Amino acid sequence: MTRLHLPAALLGLTMVAMAFPVQAEDAKTIAATICSGCHGEDGNSTIPMFPRIAGQDETYIIKQLKEFRGGQRKSDVMAPVVASLKSEDLAPLAAHFNGQKPKGQDARDAKLAEQGKGVYLDGNENSGLPACIGCHQPEAVGHGVYPRLAGQHPEYLLQQLKSFAANERTNDASRLMRVVAKRMTEDEMKAVTEYISGLGPK
Ligand code: HEC
Ligand code: HEC
Repeated sequence: MTRLHLPAALLGLTMVAMAFPVQAEDAKTIAATICSGCHGEDGNSTIPMFPRIAGQDETYIIKQLKEFRGGQRKSDVMAPVVASLKSEDLAPLAAHFNGQKPKGQDARDAKLAEQGKGVYLDGNENSGLPACIGCHQPEAVGHGVYPRLAGQHPEYLLQQLKSFAANERTNDASRLMRVVAKRMTEDEMKAVTEYISGLGPK
C-alpha cells in the first residue's frame, strides 16, 4: 500500500512546487498586459483617476477585486476587467502589486497639508470625527483590510471620501468609512487628502 501511494504523493508535491512560479509568472503577465494600461506597469499610476496600487495590502486588494466582481463595489471600469479574470488569478495578482515599491508625490499645498495632518492625527472632537490614524496606521501605510493611503492621488482619495459620504461606495464592512466620511466637511476632506497624498516614498 505505502509503496503504491509514494509516487502519487511525490507527483503531488512536484505539482504544488511548480504551481507557484507558474502563477507568479501569470500574475506578472496579466499585470503587464491588462492592468498596466491604467494602473501603470509597477502599480504606480500617474493618472489621478486611476488609483496607485503598488505596495497596497494583499488582503485589501483581494477584497476589492472580489467586490468589483460581485457588484458590492460599483465601477463600470473595473467590473469588466475582473470579469475577464479567473478566481485563482486574484491572490497572485494581489501579491504581485503588494510586492511593487510604492511611489508617491509631494503634497502640492503645504499649508493645506498641515491642516490635514491635524485631521489625520486627531479627527475632530466637535463633530465626533475619529482620527484616521486609528485605522489607517501611522504614515497611512495601512494594514489588512485598512488600505494603504500614503502617496495616493489626492483626487482619487477625495472622490472616494465623497462617494462613501453619498452612499455610492457601500462595500465598507460595518459602514466604517461611511460613518467617517459623513462626519467630514468638504474642507476637511480636501485638507486630509492633500496631507495623505504627500506621505510615503516619492
Ligand atoms: C481601463 C482602466 C483599468 C484597468 C485596465 C484596470 N483598472 Fe483597476 N481601477 C480602475 C479604476 C478607474 C479604479 C477606481 C474605481 C472606482 O472608481 O472606485 C480601479 C480600482 C482598482 C482597485 C482598487 C484600488 C483601491 O485603492 O481601492 C484595484 C485593487 C484594482 N483596480 C486592480 C486592478 C487590477 C489587478 C487590474 C488588472 C487585472 C486592473 N485594476 C485593471 C481602472 C482600471
Ligand atoms: C474605524 C476605522 C476607520 C477609520 C477611523 C478611518 N477609516 Fe478609512 N477606511 C477604513 C476601511 C475598513 C476602509 C476600506 C473599506 C473597504 O473595504 O472597501 C477604508 C477606506 C478608506 C478610503 C478608500 C481607499 C481606497 O484606496 O479606495 C479612504 C480614502 C479613506 N478610508 C480615508 C480615511 C480618512 C481620511 C480617515 C480619517 C478622516 C479615515 N479613512 C478613517 C476604515 C477606517
